[in-house]
Amino acid sequence: MTRIFYDYPLISHNTFGMDVKASVFAEFESEDDLRSLLTNDTLAPYLQHCIVIGAGSNLLFGSDFEGLVLHSRITDLTVVQETDEYVKVRVGSGYVWDDFVAWSVKQGYFGAENLSAIPGEVGASAVQNIGAYGAEVSQLIECVEAMDKQGNLRVFSNEECCYGYRDSIFKGELKGQYVITHVTYRLMKQPCWKLDYGNLHAEVELRGEPSGTVVRDAVQSIRKAKLPDPAVTGNAGSFFKNPVVAREHYEHLRDVYASIPCYPVDEKHVKVPAGWLIEQCGWKGRRWGRVAVHEKQALVLVNLGGATGNEVLELANRIADDVERKFGIRITPEVNYI
Ligand code: EPU
Repeated sequence: MTRIFYDYPLISHNTFGMDVKASVFAEFESEDDLRSLLTNDTLAPYLQHCIVIGAGSNLLFGSDFEGLVLHSRITDLTVVQETDEYVKVRVGSGYVWDDFVAWSVKQGYFGAENLSAIPGEVGASAVQNIGAYGAEVSQLIECVEAMDKQGNLRVFSNEECCYGYRDSIFKGELKGQYVITHVTYRLMKQPCWKLDYGNLHAEVELRGEPSGTVVRDAVQSIRKAKLPDPAVTGNAGSFFKNPVVAREHYEHLRDVYASIPCYPVDEKHVKVPAGWLIEQCGWKGRRWGRVAVHEKQALVLVNLGGATGNEVLELANRIADDVERKFGIRITPEVNYI
């Protein structure tokens, strides 16, 4: 079944809580439904300006969206292959990501537990290459099924998705050209814990021996302590990406700021936590009109109520300018500005 709404309020479809409208909002429950929307003559004028929305947890709307917003309600989940070592699970793009993690932990499958409590849906997980606590979803993705605007289905192998840090071909070269319908993940039957990140190991130890449930619980509690709940305070998680900088530049900064953290990227580059840079510029917890920098994680910008996308962007630019002035590093948004 398809559902089409005109002049549709998006406030419950973006976690920043922006009170904007879409000219048309359309939902589909299957590939056939999606094809019928994409080839619908009445919708044709809007297809030029069309976005796909998941839970809207990585979007910032600047104003009303004069176009078509598509939302997947494909929510089937099927184990398509099983061996002694792994299962391959094909999941609809509208399946809630954290429900999938909960399902996998309950079944006793491993690989997704570090990615617990990330807001969003399965389709967006494959676009954004969601990541946390030393894991990235690209490590689990076997293939991605997507439809082009003419209604043709294509299967992208993991390699063809060109995954990078919070990046994929669906954000780059093929941006706006495909609508994801299903993602197939490979989950393991034996654990391969990744507990090195931050205080995850300590949180797990507090709970005893690691298990899927224990790691999920530890991750949920770390996230809860640091990240604001979008149901209470509008936000889109990390607003900025952690910048990748030349090792030479980083070493020069370390001479001045001995405690500057980094994660290795390759021989010549490191990633510096943007949250640290922003905090050093004095922005952590600061309020600016109707927006603010979250008091427990400076990477997160929050809507204190009634803010517009432009107000958020203005604050983001001020922060990025300050960081650039102090550290010579330009931080860029992870959030997609529409
Ligand atoms: N830090 C500060 N001040 C802050 C925030 C962080 O000094 O206000 C320092 C911390 O002390 C630590 C380092 O920065 O040394 C890293 O902090 P944290 O572990 O909180 O992670 P992050 O790099 O800030 C990234 C992801 C998060 C993810 C966490 C955990 C990005 C853009 N963000 O944040 O992802 O949950 O790691 O893996 O890569 C998201 O994408 O929405 C998101 C929340």
